[in-house]
Amino acid sequence: MQTGLKGKHFLCEQDWTNEELETLMLVTDELKKRYLLDLDTDWLHNKSLFMLFFEESTRTRNAFECGITQLGGHANYLTPKATQIDHGETPKDTIEVLSRMGHAIGVRNSFVDGHKWMRELAKYSNIPVYNMQCDLWHPTQSIADLYTIREKFHNELKGRKFVISWTSAGNYMRPLSMAQSLVTLMPRFGLDVTLAHPKGFELMPDVLKVARENAEAYGSKFEIVNDMDEACTDADIIYAKGWGPIMTVGDDEKRGVEMINQNPGWIVNRERIELSKKHSIYMHCMPADRDIEVTSEVMDGPHSVLYDEAENRMHTIKALMALTMGNVTARR
Ligand code: CP
Repeated sequence: MQTGLKGKHFLCEQDWTNEELETLMLVTDELKKRYLLDLDTDWLHNKSLFMLFFEESTRTRNAFECGITQLGGHANYLTPKATQIDHGETPKDTIEVLSRMGHAIGVRNSFVDGHKWMRELAKYSNIPVYNMQCDLWHPTQSIADLYTIREKFHNELKGRKFVISWTSAGNYMRPLSMAQSLVTLMPRFGLDVTLAHPKGFELMPDVLKVARENAEAYGSKFEIVNDMDEACTDADIIYAKGWGPIMTVGDDEKRGVEMINQNPGWIVNRERIELSKKHSIYMHCMPADRDIEVTSEVMDGPHSVLYDEAENRMHTIKALMALTMGNVTARR
């Protein structure tokens, strides 16, 4: 078990070793058990968490906010408009001040170079910085996904087929972050990862390189296919959500949406679930576009673990805060 995590940032899964993530899973078990038994977990008494949201959120915000309350602390909800960030105050000046008052900060900024902004903030921060989703990664979602898969398969992950598939969700361009987090994290824990998307919807080359290296290092597999039926065949886990063709069109929203709409039919439906293994599970980080990304029949059906997955956001985030907040010493 890795115990020296106080003060550690969580900006990307790759920044944490497997041993550190295993510790987080272990603490999650304890916190989830205590939550179910209504036992006290006043481990972060009087600690303050800043939550800086550049974009909207249902699950992430409430997982952090309910989580810190259950740990005995308090959450401050911040937006650029509610702070001086909108008037141009720099990440350095913002965090130099907030570091003197609170004990951790989470940031959601999925705009182009959001991750860069977050790293700049973290460079000057004396308190842990959590990535609540940026343009590149969504690590507090992927750890909840890993925890959920371990629960559903009794921690027997080796050799299971994990599919992350694109979907035809065409109303706006979603970031690459969810798919990029999944393809890099899951091979580290023994899952054989199949990434499926139409041509033109590739992930970042550096990220694909890390996914391949992780598969190699941990004795698992990583493949890319351009056919959703092929991907779903014999799958143990089907995780399907849309993203924009950012590597092809950059941030050109109009062209991106056009390209998405040129690729209809990428939806999780009964036929595709029937291609998967009998015991397969269907996952999505949510919000899922009903009857666009997934049929309601599947979303509300026996293979779906969506609400357990969403609940596990809170338990894993509580473990993250419990391990990294507290008697934080200066980082620099
Ligand atoms: N999965 C997820 O991040 O949900 P929210 O956007 O509602 O936080």
